Amino acid sequence: MAERTPPVRPGETLELEVYGLGHAGEGVARYQNFALFIPWALPGDRVRARVTEVKKNFGRAALEAVLTPSPQRVQPRCPVYAECGGCQLQHLDYAAQLAAKREQVQNALARIGGLREVPVHPTLGMADPWRYRNKAQFPIGRQGGRVVAGFFAPGTHRIVDIDDCWIQHPVANRVLREVKRLVVKYGVPVYDEATHTGVLRHVLVRVARSGRDAMAVLVTATPDLPYDHEIAGELMAAIPELVSLWQNINPERTNVVLGEESVHLAGQEGLVDRIGDLEFLISPRSFYQVNPAQTEVLYRKALEYADLRGDEVVVDAYAGIGTISLFLARRARHVFGIEEVPEAVADARANAARNGIGNATFLEGRVEEWLPRLQAEGLRPEVIVFDPPRKGCEPEVLEAAAAMAPRRMVYVSCNPATLARDLGILSRHGYRAVEVQPVDMFPHTHHVEAVARIDRAP
Ligand SMILES: C[S@@+](CC[C@H](N)C(=O)[O-])C[C@H]1O[C@@H](n2cnc3c(N)ncnc32)[C@H](O)[C@@H]1O
Repeated sequence: MAERTPPVRPGETLELEVYGLGHAGEGVARYQNFALFIPWALPGDRVRARVTEVKKNFGRAALEAVLTPSPQRVQPRCPVYAECGGCQLQHLDYAAQLAAKREQVQNALARIGGLREVPVHPTLGMADPWRYRNKAQFPIGRQGGRVVAGFFAPGTHRIVDIDDCWIQHPVANRVLREVKRLVVKYGVPVYDEATHTGVLRHVLVRVARSGRDAMAVLVTATPDLPYDHEIAGELMAAIPELVSLWQNINPERTNVVLGEESVHLAGQEGLVDRIGDLEFLISPRSFYQVNPAQTEVLYRKALEYADLRGDEVVVDAYAGIGTISLFLARRARHVFGIEEVPEAVADARANAARNGIGNATFLEGRVEEWLPRLQAEGLRPEVIVFDPPRKGCEPEVLEAAAAMAPRRMVYVSCNPATLARDLGILSRHGYRAVEVQPVDMFPHTHHVEAVARIDRAP
């Protein structure tokens, strides 16, 4: 087929009808059947946009003016919404966000997985989709002599200073404001990425579901945090919800937030949270879902899809601190949880003991290694649950899972593209996606979570 010359050039200004949302939350329009991605534009908008980049099959454009707004366009609540990279969809009505997320899952299943027939249910959203996040990671720096902390502006490492983030728990915002105050009071040098100098790099906050207990981590570039006792004392006193305070040392030039070494500064060592009627201990370096209310909704769906009767052996791959594993364990004969982060595995084991659950075994290491090994050793679980990171499962994981011949699989995913790819692979191994339920874990952002029920083909 003859290659087509793109019909647009960088710098050109166009008037466009926006018809869809891209997976980073940008509006999508077509000009002479050529796709253009326009950040901040919405389906239903008529816009004027300036082309900024042209590739072979698509281009990007910057929004210059909304000529006719979409009926679903709303006023964003956040005063720094346009500058901050944290949310992408605050200007879209919440019901429309939920519909767009469902559509993204449907499109990915059809386009990437070749799965057009699989029912995708309407996204399960939140009644009150604000201040839901239980985990904040605020970078801290200096601009024009002023200490700033908040979020990075999109595609940059410029910090947008924030005092009150609308999707964060209020306790996290209070910790942020107090840390900024203490940094100024004690003259703590803040980290400068460009020169790799300074001390304080990030402030992390985790808040337990009740909102009563929180943990903070001060991430430093150096082992020495000046005035650490004073800062710890004042911070704990100012925020009564803070029950645990850590320093984490990350001396590397890296975008990874946490370093290897953590020092306990004050309060208790861990944070304990409840999901449903189970209690979970969470260490600073362990993965933990960020939206507690929706985590319950997600896990309930995963459990429903697992459809356990009580006598099954189950594998929970990518188990984190054992949250899904322990819910499964109460309805199964035995659960094997696999997780690569040692601290998370230690938490998972402690969590099993804490909840009096004796039928869960946690295996430390990579799923890519454990699953083929368990398969070779003859383990034949009735159900396998996957909850991988965004990149999804490696082919050998899906192959080993299929070779174990479980009657069912449940796949929890935070990336519709890799979910679709992996469901496509599983279908070639004789496993059929029966239904998919999107759950809105991240309101006002472009992130999409979904859980799939997969049955062994008869
Ligand atoms: C999306 S989280 C899910 C955790 C847990 N199911 C939950 O709901 O909290 C993915 C987990 O997989 C772990 N992980 C990532 N890659 C892995 C791998 N190749 N093998 C084992 N664990 C892995 C991460 O450390 C993280 O805890």
